[in-house]
Amino acid sequence: MKKIFLTLKSSSLPGALLLFAACFCARAQTFDQLAMTPQMGWNSWNKFQGQVSEQLIRETADAMATNGMKDAGYQYVNIDDLWQATSRDAQGNIVPDPTRFPSGIRAMADYVHSKGLKLGIYSDAGAKTCGGRPGSLGYEEQDAKAYAAWGVDYLKYDWCNTSGLQAPAAYKKMSDALRATGRPILFSLCEWGNSKPWLWGKGVGQSWRTTGDIYASFDQVQNHPGYKDYGVLPILDMQEGLRKYAGPGHWNDPDMLEVGNGMSVNEDRAHFTMWCMLAAPLITGNDLRHTNPETLKILTDKDVISLNQDPLGIQALKYSAKDGVEVWFKPLNNDAWAACFLNRNKDPHKIAFDWSSEKVADNISNRETKFDTTAYRIRDLWQKQDLGTTKTPLTAEVPGHDVLSLRLEEI
Ligand code: GLA
Repeated sequence: MKKIFLTLKSSSLPGALLLFAACFCARAQTFDQLAMTPQMGWNSWNKFQGQVSEQLIRETADAMATNGMKDAGYQYVNIDDLWQATSRDAQGNIVPDPTRFPSGIRAMADYVHSKGLKLGIYSDAGAKTCGGRPGSLGYEEQDAKAYAAWGVDYLKYDWCNTSGLQAPAAYKKMSDALRATGRPILFSLCEWGNSKPWLWGKGVGQSWRTTGDIYASFDQVQNHPGYKDYGVLPILDMQEGLRKYAGPGHWNDPDMLEVGNGMSVNEDRAHFTMWCMLAAPLITGNDLRHTNPETLKILTDKDVISLNQDPLGIQALKYSAKDGVEVWFKPLNNDAWAACFLNRNKDPHKIAFDWSSEKVADNISNRETKFDTTAYRIRDLWQKQDLGTTKTPLTAEVPGHDVLSLRLEEI
């Protein structure tokens, strides 16, 4: 592709053709190159539920393009449920709700693309979405073609109203329909972990939800008739055993972020850091138009995001847990490691960690830490401070519901 571009560029082609060549190359992403690191963006659901509108999408794209998020790597502006009209048109086409999206989805895609961002949309494998709008069952190809024609870049595909369907086949059907359009649309499976999508989702989509829905709580579970919502720690605990299934182009998705939606700053920081350690898709779920500085600071921290976007794409492992403090390690590119001390307690907790007597072994990359023979430089990622080397035991106090997030690099 690059070669063609260079050849065209060096010849004396008319401007329009050159522009076409440039666009072609910039867009020359194939399905197999999608989400080589976890996808980053925003989704309307966690904050707005059904209150979606074209004004919200435009203003969110404006905010993301200018508030530092785009610069930090966020790309997708995703419209969740209830963007659709209550029924299809006479030809069976899916149509946007005329009050919420009077200009149509193509106009949304054009606007979002004009900001250098990408547009995501939502549907469901059943006859109706969770919000009761038309789902894609029986219309998979027609819907995929509509999304591609509109310029959509991402599809989140839900699992409501699917009794009698088998998830692997239902998701494969939409995956094939998307591929057949020729437009590389990232496919985000939202099946809540019911049929263990980590066992069959690779190659079908780029990520799969591992649990039911998150809500803005650090450690609680909320019971509803027939389903539950989960706070950050309960979701974290449900990731046990799943790390081996994640990797470039196929991620475990512990659900979207609740940063900025009501938890304390410490809790938001711990939530964000752990999602980075898990190599989770970073889909923010707050109101980007009115983000307070503390929230934005968390969401745009490039040092912590670099753990998430590390090209190795290996999910962190839980190394130890004692007195409510967990120690997690994530192997990083160039023989580096991320270490994270997560304090699940409400109160601050003193930690002491003598590196030289610890050995972390990762059976995915087949790498081990070499604290006994090699010194690693320690960087505290949130405090932006160097903390010496692993030749000296670490002592620190981690505030309640917070983390100490470190990057270790061999000297
Ligand atoms: C399900 C999904 C949520 C959201 C809603 C929309 O609950 O898990 O993330 O998309 O449906 O109705």
